[in-house]
Amino acid sequence: MTAYEYETHDYDVVVVGAGGAGLRATLGMAEQGLRTACVTKVFPTRSHTVAAQGGIAASLSNMGPDNWQWHMYDTVKGSDWLGDTDAMEYLAREAPKAVYELEHYGVPFSRTEEGKIYQRPFGGHTTEFGEGPAVQRTCAAADRTGHAILHTLYGQSLKNNAEFYIEYFAIDLIMSEDGVCQGVVCWKLDDGTMHVFNAKTVVLATGGYGRAYFSATSAHTCTGDGGGMVARAGLALQDMEFVQFHPTGIYGSGCLITEGARGEGGYLTNSEGERFMERYAPQYKDLAPRDYVSRSMTMEIREGRGVGADGDHIFLNLNHLPAEALAERLPGISESAAIFAGVDVTKEPIPVLPTVHYNMGGVPTNYWGEVLNPTAKDPNAVVPGLMAVGEAGCASVHGANRLGSNSLIDLVVFGRAAAIRAGDVVDADAPNPALNQASVDAAFDRFDGLRHAKGNVPTAELRLEMQKTMQADAAVFRTSETLTEGVEKMTGIAAKLGDLAVTDRSLIWNSDLMETLELTNLMPNALATIHGAEARQESRGAHAHEDFPERDDKKWRVHTISRVEGNKVDLSYRPVVVDPLTTPAEGGIELKKIAPKARTF
Ligand code: FUM
Repeated sequence: MTAYEYETHDYDVVVVGAGGAGLRATLGMAEQGLRTACVTKVFPTRSHTVAAQGGIAASLSNMGPDNWQWHMYDTVKGSDWLGDTDAMEYLAREAPKAVYELEHYGVPFSRTEEGKIYQRPFGGHTTEFGEGPAVQRTCAAADRTGHAILHTLYGQSLKNNAEFYIEYFAIDLIMSEDGVCQGVVCWKLDDGTMHVFNAKTVVLATGGYGRAYFSATSAHTCTGDGGGMVARAGLALQDMEFVQFHPTGIYGSGCLITEGARGEGGYLTNSEGERFMERYAPQYKDLAPRDYVSRSMTMEIREGRGVGADGDHIFLNLNHLPAEALAERLPGISESAAIFAGVDVTKEPIPVLPTVHYNMGGVPTNYWGEVLNPTAKDPNAVVPGLMAVGEAGCASVHGANRLGSNSLIDLVVFGRAAAIRAGDVVDADAPNPALNQASVDAAFDRFDGLRHAKGNVPTAELRLEMQKTMQADAAVFRTSETLTEGVEKMTGIAAKLGDLAVTDRSLIWNSDLMETLELTNLMPNALATIHGAEARQESRGAHAHEDFPERDDKKWRVHTISRVEGNKVDLSYRPVVVDPLTTPAEGGIELKKIAPKARTF
């Protein structure tokens, strides 16, 4: 029995996280009359989706010919053939519907002259199954698309009577003895009270774990809390070795400069003033996918053609674009460039560098967001009562590399799908489950242990050690040597979680304790990443292994499944879903169109 007093809350559904996926799921659940709570450690409109800039992909054809089959093809190729085909079809097919819903909810999209939603080009989005020119598929609200979506979804969720528990930190999942998720234990940050949420379904929408790295575009709140809770519950993580570097983080601060900047006509140059992407990707140049562009930039720097005093970054040029276009289409990044790089984009190039941006891996799910138990006898078995959506989940639509603007659409398509599924499987009339008290107590015990941790290693010091190791050893390019070293170092670093020193024992606004809890979430994510990368002896998407430069479909077209216990990681593999949802006779894509081939741009 725990010494902590707590309040119990009963709901049909509890969504953990209030970014784009969490809010879209919350809204969809509440619209159907399910008693829905959204628990979030930050105010909803401060969730990291607010930082999403360039836009949301959907084949609306507002700017020229497009269709969902082309979008699906680009997503398959973008994923370097590691995405699950059923999920990728679902994403591309449902995308237009999901965007029109957003429009009707009130998202203030930028408009064409005719009043249609404005769409811009983004990397890897093409026409004619990769044979035609780049397509304008990314629907934008200037360069503040995530911000616009988040505010709209929050307002709509309130209108539909969803209940919000704001600045509540989720400590751990409550699991029954037979593996059913029954809820989540939380700490209310502003008054120190404790809360147990009892739910028929828990939806993890906790975002990515970019802060496992030293330099990331991700907010400091992106600490992989869902992955941490899942790992502690003995459940699996998937494809964690695939970490996306966005080509244009501002040099030094890591702050994002949207790919929309290149979509609007911006281009990269090296120290010789050369538009080097023309050499690496002759067809799509600066609009090749992110893994491609990040590798090309890194190669330029390595070969001595970087810019700046140390030759260690690249220039992004926008100053040839009309000042009015920059003000209308890219006002946010014009401001960021001035603040974080001291650059007037109408006159000078922005210094940029590939920066950690997105985690393709996460909690494995089917395309309804239901969490999979991939090592069960039945490979399609789900964990009852548990869903994961958005960057926290891995459906897997992005495979080894995500296309720009496929993240926002992933959030709303799969947030919406989770709500549709919950409408089918959650019985609103049934009583809530009797909670497994042992699981509740275990969560409080872990919390209490960290609160009173009297070891020798301050949280900030251990976090920095982890971040620097991940940055150095699991970077844009990886080698057997760096990865072996990374595994060894991270094993030692993770062991130090047992020797943490927390100095503040209070319960109210204790950021020392909160950051410690976050570190215990970052760590299993980081461990799974480095172990998965060390084991994968091929190059695919964002995993560029210099000792194994080729993709090996025969051996490695499989998802990596990791289970983390303490500082140990157990790896296994599961097949990629290769069958689409529909046949050509039903309007679906022909299998031969999406068969693996060399990935050039
Ligand atoms: O470049 C960007 O605007 C980021 C978009 C994304 O990650 O999808």
